[in-house]
Order: sequence, then C-alpha cells, then structure tokens
Amino acid sequence: MREVPKHIGFIMDGNGRWAKARLMPRTAGHLAGLKALKKVIKGCVEEGVSYVTLYCFSTENWTRPKDEVDYLMGLFSEKIMGELPFYNENGIRLLTLGDISVLPDDARKALLEAVEATKGNTKITVQLAINYGGQDEICRAVNAALAEGITKITPEVIRAHFDNPDVPPADLIVRSAGEKRLSNFLLFDSAYSEFVFYDKLWPDWGAKDVSAAIDEYNSRTRKFGGVKQ
Ligand code: IPE
Ligand code: IPE
Ligand code: MG
Repeated sequence: MREVPKHIGFIMDGNGRWAKARLMPRTAGHLAGLKALKKVIKGCVEEGVSYVTLYCFSTENWTRPKDEVDYLMGLFSEKIMGELPFYNENGIRLLTLGDISVLPDDARKALLEAVEATKGNTKITVQLAINYGGQDEICRAVNAALAEGITKITPEVIRAHFDNPDVPPADLIVRSAGEKRLSNFLLFDSAYSEFVFYDKLWPDWGAKDVSAAIDEYNSRTRKFGGVKQ
C-alpha cells in the first residue's frame, strides 16, 4: 500500500533563478513562488499529509540585498492574512517556526493573527519557517531548558523545548531547484528523514510534484538504524 508521509518539509528554492530566466527582478520570483506554495499545500491536503513545513526565510537570508529582504517581509505582512479563506476552506492550521520576535512589527502581527484565525482547523498543520535556522532552533531550545533549571540535556528535552513540540520529525524533505543541501533546515528533526531533490524551480511546482515525491518516498526502505528483512 502507498504510504503517505505524516510530515513533509519543503525547501522552496529557485525563485530567483526562475525570475532571472524571464529577465524579471528576483522579487517577481518570490511572488510566483507564493502561487506555487498554495498548489503544493493543496496537493498535500489531497494526499492526506498531516504536517507540512515550508522553509520561507532562513536565519542567513538576512544577508540578501535590503530590497529583497523588505519585499519578503512585505509578502509575510500583506499576503498571509489575505489567504484566510483558502486556509479555512482547506482546513489548514498555520503555525510559525523560528524566532519571529525580530521580524518587522507588521509581519510579526500578521503571522500571529493568521495563527490565531486558523487554530480551529484540523485537516493539515502548516509550519511557516521564518527567520528559521536549525542551529538557532537547537540553541534556543537548550537555552529555554537551562532557563528552567534543567541540567541534563537529552534529545527529548531539546524536542520538548522546540517552538511546536507536538509536530513530529519530518518523514520526507523535498528540495526544489537542484541544490542538494539542507541549508540549515530541520537539522534536529531530519535525523531519519528521506530526501528527495528535484531540478524544477519552485515557482513551477504544483500538486503533481507532491505526488511524485510521495511515490519516490514509497520506493525507499526506512530502517531507523535497525534491520529490515
Ligand atoms: C528561495 O528562492 C526563496 C527564499 C530563499 C526566500 P531563492 O531566492 O533562493 O532562489 P535562487 O536560489 O536565488 O534561485
Ligand atoms: C534555503 O535556500 C532557504 C529557503 C528556502 C528559505 P537558500 O537559497 O537561502 O539556500 P542556499 O544559500 O542556496 O544554501
Ligand atoms: Mg536559493
């Protein structure tokens, strides 16, 4: 039987290259990427995936040109709440992942508002990873545990202090645009993830690509360090 991964993480890469190929500014690629993102989420809902993590902005992406960073922050503040009917019609509960305390006020408020407005949806949970870095996530969790007086750090303690401890580790991590690296995504929760890399640039993605990635996931044998006959 075809097994649907419970949690898929998407490294949405290639927006800039997509725009460059069309002689458009990189920002146009990000806008096109947003449209692809909706198609991919819909595909995940149709497949019955329970959790999706979308890598939207890394702790390293602040080093990009200011106009590009400003544009992305603008997308978070202006577009997220505008999609409320889409989330509610599809049963999407939004969560944020990453340190959003340092985001511009408008973006942070829009994200918190969207999380609040969708908290009753139960079909799928979508984590928006913004100002997210896997190293930062682990350090924040360890510091939170130390601040509580915990002196023995274990994998369980670290997980329990994550932003959303109830979200399980990623079964499948998918990256678009040909690059074969994690770029600081889900370092802890990718311990036993399967990886799928496709050359297609993110703005060209849709539900069919989700289905293809799940097919490829089904061709893998997960062993978690054990032995499978
Ligand atoms: C991914 O696309 C989107 C973000 C990192 C926000 P890129 O902007 O990295 O696109 P390329 O890699 O330059 O093509
Ligand atoms: C990873 O893509 C970050 C996001 C998708 C948000 P990058 O384009 O920033 O990663 P590198 O620089 O190619 O490793
Ligand atoms: Mg990139």
